[in-house]
Amino acid sequence: MPDPIPFIDLQAQRRKLGESLNRAIAGAVESGQWILGPHVAALEERLASFVNVTHVVACANGTDALLLVLRAWDIGPGDAVFVPAFTFAATAEAVALTGATPVFVDVEDDTFNISLLSLETALAMVRKEDGLRPKAVIPVDLFGQPADYRRLEPFAENEQLLMLCDAAQAFGATFSNRITGSIGDAATTSFFPAKPLGCYGDGGACFTNDSALADVLRSLRAHGQGADRYEHPRIGINSRLDTIQAAILSEKLKIFPDELVMRERVARRYDVGLKNRRILTPVVIEGAQSVWAQYTIQVENRSKLQADLKDQGVPTNVYYPMPLSRQAAYAQFPSAPTPNSQKLSERVVSLPMHPYLDEKTQDRIIEAVLKSVG
Ligand SMILES: Cc1ncc(COP(=O)(O)O)c(C=O)c1O
Repeated sequence: MPDPIPFIDLQAQRRKLGESLNRAIAGAVESGQWILGPHVAALEERLASFVNVTHVVACANGTDALLLVLRAWDIGPGDAVFVPAFTFAATAEAVALTGATPVFVDVEDDTFNISLLSLETALAMVRKEDGLRPKAVIPVDLFGQPADYRRLEPFAENEQLLMLCDAAQAFGATFSNRITGSIGDAATTSFFPAKPLGCYGDGGACFTNDSALADVLRSLRAHGQGADRYEHPRIGINSRLDTIQAAILSEKLKIFPDELVMRERVARRYDVGLKNRRILTPVVIEGAQSVWAQYTIQVENRSKLQADLKDQGVPTNVYYPMPLSRQAAYAQFPSAPTPNSQKLSERVVSLPMHPYLDEKTQDRIIEAVLKSVG
């Protein structure tokens, strides 16, 4: 069996960061501050200037980030929040945890992102059926590519829907020269290790230009505390970022722009190498720049491809094998028809993707894919 290839090679990045990362970690440990503190505040400032927003509120993970914004907007029982059916569970989970109702919307079959046409259908459906108040939409920038905000933004504004952009997979992606995080009424991301900007544990952040919202988010992430630590004007949660994770993220942010260029180069080589009538390579909409959290292709016979690649030491992953709207925990919630989500869940497969994927290894992957599809 040929040498196994890592799906995401975080150790290559670790080697590149070397001593500077060790020093950052040691510095955080020696500071004696373990949760929040100056390292987290400095990270929040760096992220705010990277994304070009006025407020960043770091928290414990990307799921909490979504939950915190929804809670800060007072979204709860009786409210409808529109989410794509083809996404990670966390997007709908955060909505359900507030007591609001996630309403599933189909995605585009080429970009994997929320379909405006389906959103219109879902909104009309909710308005017709009494009971739910349409409150917000959560577009997801799936696999690293921004959703089609050119069309979503005016629609959300017209329909008076708050827009919370779930950029968990797309920190650093751009759309019409705006960076994810600065798009929407608020946005969130995840620093899960495998994300384009990941820490060495769990982490997340909320982004907004709304100062009042940022104040509430800071309170909610710390048990709803007020001006004083033991004053609680609201019920919050415990969702603070660890100091060590902030120190790690600040170091990683320094090489992040270069890594995005490297990711793009890997994606372009896949696009060219995988030109084949039996393979659908990912489509990026005009004006958008993906950060390639995943490089996801569509094929007819996915299980054969996965088995053949496994034999060649090439790992693959399926994100996601079932639309959320059909999962046991979520099937109870309303949904627009989701044929594209269903089709994608049967056809998509993600290939190894990270900034440090060298050409020789990538050629081995491309060759194995082409050999399998024939
Ligand atoms: C689209 C999306 N939203 C939210 C999350 C949640 O992030 P976390 O794992 O940091 O809670 C993820 C994580 O995989 C995600 O992919």
